[in-house]
Amino acid sequence: MAGRLEGYSALVTGGGKGIGRAVVDRFIAEGARCVVLVRSDSDADDLVAMHGDKAACVTGDVRNWDDNVAAVEMAVTQFGKLDVLVPNAGVYDFSDPFESIEGADIEDRYRQLFDVNVLGYLLGTRAAVDALRESHGSIVYTLSSSSFFAGGGGALYVSSKHALVGTVKQLAYELAPEIRVNAVAPGGTRTGLGGLPGDTRALADLDGFEDMVARNVPLGFLSEPEDHASLYVTLASREESRFVTSEIIRSDGGIEVRGRRRRKTT
Ligand SMILES: NC(=O)c1ccc[n+]([C@@H]2O[C@H](COP(=O)([O-])OP(=O)(O)OC[C@H]3O[C@@H](n4cnc5c(N)ncnc54)[C@H](O)[C@@H]3O)[C@@H](O)[C@H]2O)c1
Repeated sequence: MAGRLEGYSALVTGGGKGIGRAVVDRFIAEGARCVVLVRSDSDADDLVAMHGDKAACVTGDVRNWDDNVAAVEMAVTQFGKLDVLVPNAGVYDFSDPFESIEGADIEDRYRQLFDVNVLGYLLGTRAAVDALRESHGSIVYTLSSSSFFAGGGGALYVSSKHALVGTVKQLAYELAPEIRVNAVAPGGTRTGLGGLPGDTRALADLDGFEDMVARNVPLGFLSEPEDHASLYVTLASREESRFVTSEIIRSDGGIEVRGRRRRKTT
């Protein structure tokens, strides 16, 4: 049986691990070929070992314009076109309380986090626009439950993910009708999502993270990266969603209908 993305060419940023990696694996299983913008050579080696010539990697940094251009060029030269862009690379602030950040440090932390979470998405999108217009392709952003709700991150992370809601809407408006712009907004997911440079914490290693997510969503469990991947396929596919743009699909266990508990401060 033909896959749902047979013949598609995709580019996923931050696809070496976590949610991005699950999207790459699923896209390729559905018949696509993927360029993956990764941070490390070991992620690149791992992807190529698993997928052979269906995956091609650029080792780089989403904050760098040239690296984004190189990734788009790789899709066009190796796979002949670009049908789908998935801006996904991100960093977390581990819910550090706003008042725990010294005022003098805010600018630096803001730039480090927003440069990856927001600027990185804008650069990737700008680099891909011409190729996507030509293919009448689509963009699927990774957003977050923190794009809608407080309490899943600190002020910097939640601000950055809220900013991307506006980005999806504005770009859906500007890039239509050739390019559809949508997003998947995962809730708590078992990944090694990391922090700013020098921060060695990883989300899924935090004490009590799994229980906290399970307690706070009606569906009652911490999701795996693979739980979200099919939604990216749906939004990427012209056949399955050709009348859908400016849509954000929440894959968060139903946070909205339960609400989130306030963290105890004592
Ligand atoms: N894990 C969760 O609970 C969760 C929930 C909602 C949304 N998200 C979002 O999902 C996306 C993927 O995160 P994840 O949870 O899979 O974590 P992850 O750490 O497994 O994946 C993030 C990827 O981004 C890459 N990356 C970070 N900075 C980069 C940079 N400057 N240039 C290039 N690549 C860079 C990392 O190397 C990593 O491969 C992020 O945007 C995150 O905010 C995660």
